[in-house]
Formats: sequence, C-alpha cells, structure tokens
Amino acid sequence: MTESAVPSPIRVLPPHVARLIAAGEVVSRSLDVVRELVENALDAGATRIEIDVEGGGLRLVQVRDNGRGIAAESVALAPQRHATSKLEPDARSMDRVRTLGFRGEALWAAAQAGELRLVTRPATQVGACEVRAHGDDVQVARVSAPAGTTVRVQNLFAALPARLRTQAAPAAEVREITALVGRYVLHWPQLFWKLSVDGEARLSHAPADHRGAVASVYGPLSANRVLTVQAGGVRGVVSRPELTRARRDRMHFSVNGRPVQAPPELEKAVIEGFAELLPAGAAPLCVLDLTLNPEDQNPNVHPAKQVVALADLSGVAARVREAVAQALAAHPLARAAPALVAPPEPARTPDGSFPRLTLLGVYQELYLLAQGEGDLWVVDAHAAHERALFERLTRELSAAPPVELPAPELLHLTPEQLARLHERGPELRAWGLHLEDFGAGLARLRALPAALAALPVPRLHEQIVETALGDHPDPRREVLGRLACAPALKAGMLDHPRGAQVLDQLAACEQPWACPHGRPTVLRLPERDLAHAFGRRGVRDVARGRDAVKG
Ligand SMILES: Nc1ncnc2c1ncn2[C@@H]1O[C@H](COP(=O)(O)OP(=O)(O)O)[C@@H](O)[C@H]1O
Ligand SMILES: [Mg+2]
Repeated sequence: MTESAVPSPIRVLPPHVARLIAAGEVVSRSLDVVRELVENALDAGATRIEIDVEGGGLRLVQVRDNGRGIAAESVALAPQRHATSKLEPDARSMDRVRTLGFRGEALWAAAQAGELRLVTRPATQVGACEVRAHGDDVQVARVSAPAGTTVRVQNLFAALPARLRTQAAPAAEVREITALVGRYVLHWPQLFWKLSVDGEARLSHAPADHRGAVASVYGPLSANRVLTVQAGGVRGVVSRPELTRARRDRMHFSVNGRPVQAPPELEKAVIEGFAELLPAGAAPLCVLDLTLNPEDQNPNVHPAKQVVALADLSGVAARVREAVAQALAAHPLARAAPALVAPPEPARTPDGSFPRLTLLGVYQELYLLAQGEGDLWVVDAHAAHERALFERLTRELSAAPPVELPAPELLHLTPEQLARLHERGPELRAWGLHLEDFGAGLARLRALPAALAALPVPRLHEQIVETALGDHPDPRREVLGRLACAPALKAGMLDHPRGAQVLDQLAACEQPWACPHGRPTVLRLPERDLAHAFGRRGVRDVARGRDAVKG
C-alpha cells in the first residue's frame, strides 16, 4: 500500500505485463465480489469498511470505505480490464507487489457479471464521481458524496443463467462471506468493520488488537484464552493450550496483510510450537500475520490470490514455530481445572445424604478444600457457616420465652413499614417479636426472641425490625437469614481448626447444600474430571513412559 493520501493514477497494463497475470475467473460467485471490493478498500488505506450483502450477495454486494478514493481523471479507467494504479507498467513490478490487488481485473469482472456502480471522492477533491458500468458500457457522472469510495454490485449473473444456476443457496454463501469478513477482521483488527446481511448487522468490530478481533469474531471466551505472539516477523495470537479444537478450522494466517489458505507446513509449525502442551490431534486457534519481503512471496499463483507461493517455506515455518514457542514460554500455562459443579440438591432425607468431608486445607482464608466420596470439594466457609447459624437460630427461636427489654425501645417507621406492622403484628408476636404502633410514626419494641437478643450484631434491634417489616413473604425467615449472615465467618477469620468446625456444623445441617439466601455452600470437582483434564486414561492410571521412574 502506498502511504500517501493522494490516489495514484490508474493506467492500463501493457499486454506484455497483463500476460503475466495468473489466468482464471476473478468473479465466479458473490464471495469473490466481497473479497475483491474489501481488498480494494484496504489498498486504499481505509480505516472504516462497511459491507452490505443482500440476497446471498446476488442481489447486492456493497462495500463502503473511507479510503483514498479515485481521482476524477482516472475514474473512467477503473472498470477497464487490466487497469490498475498499483503496478508500474513494467514486467518486473509484479515481483514487488505490496498491495492486495494488482491485476486491474476485479472491477472489470464485476461489471461483466453484474451492474457496477462506484461513487468515489478523494478527500482533497471537490465533488465526487459516479461510474456505472455494465458489460462494456461505462458511464461517468459528477455527483456529491463524502470522501472515500462506495462500490455496489447488483444483480450478479442476472444475464448469465448458466452461472446463476450453479450458485450456492444464499444462506450458504452468506455463511462463507461472514467467515471471509471475519478473517479480514482477524488480520486487520485496527480498522472499523461492519458486515450487514439483508439489513441486519452480522459482524461489527471497532479498532482493537488481535485479541479484540478474536473477541469480535469468536467471542470473549476465546479472546480471554489467547496469548500474544510477536517475534521474527510473526505477529498475532495463539490460544492457550486449554482452548483447542479437533479441527484446524480456526488457524488463520496472512502474508503481508493478505489472508491466505495456509500451507499445511505452517499449520504444522504452529502445532509443533506447542510441543507436548497440545494433546495429539488437537489444533489451537491462531491468528498469525507474517511479514515477508515482497520478493519472497508470490501472490500471483491463484486467481483468487488465496494461495501464495513462499520462496522459503521451511524458513518461514521455522520462524512461526519459534514465535509460537516463545509466546507459550512467556506464560504460566497451568490449564484451567474442569468446571466445578454445585451438586444437585438431593431431596431432604432424615440422615442427610451430605458426605463426610475431611478438611485438606484453607484457601484464601475464605474457602475450605476438602475430600469426600473420593472427590475434591470446595466449601465457601462463609456460606457454610451462615447456613449452620441459620439452622441453629431457627431451632432455638421457640426454645425459650421471649426476652422483655428492660426499657422498651422507640423506632421510627416509614408509612409502608407501619402498614406492614398492622398487617403482621400478630404473626411477629407468634415467634417472639413484640412490636406495637406508638403513634406519630413510631413503633415500640417490647420483647425479642431469646435466641436473637444476645447476638453480637451491630444495630441489632433496628436490623430485626427493618427486616421483619420489609417486603418479603416470610419475615421470620428473612430476619434469621439476615442475622445469620452478619456474624458468619468473614475472610480472614478462617484457620484450620475453625474450618474443621464449620465442616462439622455444615454436615449436621438439615439442608447443607445452600446458604439461607440460596447460594451454594459446596462445589464438587469429581476425581474423574481431574483425571480426564490431566489426560489420564483412568482415574487411578499412572502415566507410564517418559514419566515412569526407572528403577
Ligand atoms: N475502494 C477503492 N478506493 C480507491 N481506489 C479504488 C477502489 N477500488 C478500486 N480502486 C481503483 O480502481 C483500480 C482498479 O481496481 P481493481 O479492478 O480491483 O484492480 P486492482 O485492485 O487489481 O488494481 C484500482 O487499481 C484502484 O486504483
Ligand atoms: Mg482490486
């Protein structure tokens, strides 16, 4: 690409240069139109590329860019065959191609296959030009338009019934067009991209790095699992070893900005870069941009330019392998443990089917790691303690008569709380909370359940009254849940003896699986899943071979 903001003139290649161009049909399906128009936008230095496809691309392909545009003097040449601004008209220039296009055939081919309309304006030019071309008929008009270029190709193959009959179904073509645009996004992540299909946005991307492009194309889950690669003219990302695929369908390469079908040698080089970090047969996700000297690669071997010939394939492969290995070496690569699962809550049974858990250790002063039924359990100590307190308070609530306060306490109530007091007074009294309307927006607290009266909770009375008169169907449950939460173990209060105590208390609970607010208290990591994640064949299978200790 030329860096200048001013478009170069378009010239028709002399026959001896045109003859060097790989022969083949440039436009045989709508995907080809999308690719050629996108390449033109990239060659024009655009930073924003918007693609619209209708009717599988047969009705319409439109690409709008904010690139350099075509000067009024050149515009009539653009849809001529072998007319290009990208090659010097001498035979050797083909060896120095730095642009994606160079043959001057795409607009011509699009005008042969369909109706071409191009509106373009260089930023410094007053007024834009419109070119309409269909077959060999070319018309130019002056119009007004923003800087940049919009190219539309409509009614593709409408005049070529034989061609039309061999077109894929629109949905299939759209799938491939979406994948193609995704590949451009992955390799040109620093641009704005938008693909709309039949008026609906399919893919949008705002300027970002390669990781951001992975997020736009494959989603944030994949993007969070890639590592940056940058060494020896190889830039991009590879997935961490835990994100692998059974097929090589997410391995993307570009050579000097051109997405290419990678030779298998390059895919193999990436996989070799992982060495034993990748299970046999697995493929990573990768997006790798290779920068080569123009003379070391030849894009002129395939009509769609998706294959490039590399002068030194094994040298390039070695660079790729090394760059990937370096990226992996720079990161700790413990694989994520398999997902922990909250055990399905078994129906309450009198003996409680909660397993006997043996405490192994305390993690982050917050979680207990325990062993039970052969599996690894992670216990949220706060949630577990809360559950145990909640059940204790529930048991003790009606065990003793309520405690009369030495001096009744006056509390302010909102009108809503007051209304609830009238509604719920008798219900609260039934479990020991004696609260009366004192008039003037005040309530008088006379007695509390004995189990609650001595709890070490700040603003105890206010909290009880506030919760009891809150907006929930079961005030008793809410009050106990809130009070169980307050004194429950917080981070930092947990040591091994306390942890063991919490496990015992949890095991004694009627409903040990969740805290009073419904959060799980325990997660279980089955030994079988661990064995699987470590690539063991069976649970107790000890890896043989290179791991075996020679004795
Ligand atoms: N989006 C565009 N922005 C600026 N110039 C363009 C654009 N599309 C086409 N052109 C001009 O039209 C010429 C012909 O385009 P094309 O037929 O695709 O041939 P090539 O890209 O191989 O040169 C290009 O060389 C370029 O000068
Ligand atoms: Mg082109």
